[in-house]
Amino acid sequence: MALPKSGRQLWTAVDEYFRALIAPGDKYLEAAVKANRKAGLPAIDVSPLQGQHLNILVRMTQPKRVLEIGTLGGYSTICMARALPVGGRIVTLEFSPRHAEVARKNLKNAGVLDRVDMRMGPALHILPILESEGAGPFDFIFIDADKQSNAEYVKWALRLSRPGTTIVVDNVVRDGKVIDGKSKDPDIVGTRRMAELIAKESRLSATVMQNVGAKGYDGFLLAVVVQ
Ligand code: SAH
Ligand code: DHB
Ligand code: MG
Repeated sequence: MALPKSGRQLWTAVDEYFRALIAPGDKYLEAAVKANRKAGLPAIDVSPLQGQHLNILVRMTQPKRVLEIGTLGGYSTICMARALPVGGRIVTLEFSPRHAEVARKNLKNAGVLDRVDMRMGPALHILPILESEGAGPFDFIFIDADKQSNAEYVKWALRLSRPGTTIVVDNVVRDGKVIDGKSKDPDIVGTRRMAELIAKESRLSATVMQNVGAKGYDGFLLAVVVQ
């Protein structure tokens, strides 16, 4: 086999090599991706290896309560739901009724709908409701919705957490655009505000893992509530 040249082509080939070898997925995950594309949902689900990464983080942390902000078609939800300990549950937030409908079918098909509480509406509207319901504290929180609200989502994640809670934020690198302090892109402004908030927040210990692969060049932030 001729080696692919460089850059994105190479990352994609390496991603595919490891995916096929160690994270082949199964018919339920494949069916979810197919259903999402068929329904015209944007192709921004986590990649198979990233989904497996979430699955492993959940296995490692054994969370009884997971909060996900941004469901799309439920691909990441399925990956996490499968790794929950007995009695574990996921609350997942989605403001698009169409996305939520596709997700519900995918979750049902994958046999995990009974572990998932889907809440429809803008996350910043639902988060205070969750707090008033006493839904927290969550043990594991995955933030993957509109990037412009990332700082607010991290603030809410803190309100709904306990010492030891794991927080993962997707898409914090964005082709490296995150370092452009002059950017007017709301996603970049929001992500930078989040990073500055975390820097000032003594209750959080955080790191960023840059990532290349089938979805290009991006990264995720991994944080733990330390007090
Ligand atoms: N976690 C999913 C991908 C989520 S894509 C996966 O990996 O499979 C981001 C999702 O967040 C989209 O479905 C979008 O409709 C939703 N979203 C965007 N802004 C939102 C908001 N303010 N409140 C709730 N959901 C939102
Ligand atoms: C976008 C959103 C995501 O959650 C993602 O993983 C990739 C891209 C986007 O809005 O472009
Ligand atoms: Mg994402």
